[in-house]
Amino acid sequence: MLVFAKKKSVQQKIESLKKATSIGFVPTMGALHKGHLSLIERAKKENDLVVVSVFVNPTQFDKQEDLINYPKTIEKDLSLLKSVFCDIVFAPSAHEIYANNITSQAFDFDGLEFQMEGKFRTGHFDGVGTIVKRLFEIVKPTKAYFGEKDFQQLQIIRTMVKKHQIPVKIVGCDIYREDDGLAMSSRNTRLTKAHREAAPFIYKTLKQAKVKFGTENALDVVGWVENEFKKQPLLELEYFEIADEETLQTIKNKDIKQKYRAFIAVFAGEIRLIDNISL
Ligand code: PAJ
Repeated sequence: MLVFAKKKSVQQKIESLKKATSIGFVPTMGALHKGHLSLIERAKKENDLVVVSVFVNPTQFDKQEDLINYPKTIEKDLSLLKSVFCDIVFAPSAHEIYANNITSQAFDFDGLEFQMEGKFRTGHFDGVGTIVKRLFEIVKPTKAYFGEKDFQQLQIIRTMVKKHQIPVKIVGCDIYREDDGLAMSSRNTRLTKAHREAAPFIYKTLKQAKVKFGTENALDVVGWVENEFKKQPLLELEYFEIADEETLQTIKNKDIKQKYRAFIAVFAGEIRLIDNISL
């Protein structure tokens, strides 16, 4: 496994290997867990060479304290990456990526950016677009892998690639969960014991909402979920929405030709958790 911190050196190495190979790319912010590893394993199966980036991107954090508290575990990350036979790691400094100008480019994601996470995390998706576009320019992957855990991010990246005609295939990967159903996340390690024990309620409720959506209208399902969370003293619901998978617009009337997904954000104490389920 080769590890690079400089754009030029990682680019030169990839270029020298690229001739006859397909490159699978998995961008991450480190603090790696089995969810990330599942993306890397898929990329390994589908490509000759796998590149993983580890970079805690400052421009996508709307709260400075979130950036400061984001877990940084590079040594452990590198040994996990080695264990899944990652070929190349790109772990740059913020200066290497942004020089002295840590700001985002402004994007138009066809309105996807104003839904759900966009309402609660100002500027977040401009930050994500900025870093992912720059990383694509450096790595020039054949395929790039994103988790459905961050479904809105996945759809936004798909839109960006289309609009900016970036020649990469975006692959969406299933959500990897703990045995009790909690979606794996780097933030889970920051939960208190009590909040960790309460957190599987999120996925349990999503699964029940999916069953209800079979026979009930969306508004009733939303009302039911909101009520369920009122009974949970340790979990505070920020939003629960049922939306069209493509446009991410909140559903008005069910149309059997459309695909829908339920999206949720919950505070477990200080920690904000998100999840979603296809309906
Ligand atoms: P990060 O949160 O580190 O996630 C990196 C990738 O792993 C994302 O595509 C995310 O959706 C995926 N992932 C995280 N948890 C997962 C799980 N439980 N199951 C499946 N996939 C999971 O997302 C980011 O970083 C950043 O926004 C990034 C795209 C790297 C840009 O900075």
